[in-house]
Amino acid sequence: MRPAMLAKKNSYKLVDAILNGRPGTAMPSFSEKLNKADVQKNILILLM
Ligand code: HEM
Repeated sequence: MRPAMLAKKNSYKLVDAILNGRPGTAMPSFSEKLNKADVQKNILILLM
């Protein structure tokens, strides 16, 4: 995603999208590869 679009999202929704994916879109779930703590720590990088 592009920074301008990311800036409008809250971090809770971003974590949810990464862990659970977005059903009906190409966005896959990463919950088998990442746990919640990992995503919460790294979401800050997406928002920078
Ligand atoms: C195979 C790799 C990936 C594909 C094909 C993919 C595809 C997509 C697509 C199509 C969307 C838009 C979903 C919608 O229309 O609502 C999306 C959203 C998103 N993706 Fe991915 N993605 C991939 C990997 C990743 C990775 C590695 C991350 C971050 C670690 C990521 C983070 C996100 C986030 C945060 C959203 C935003 C959801 C929202 O708008 O609330 N994605 N992805």
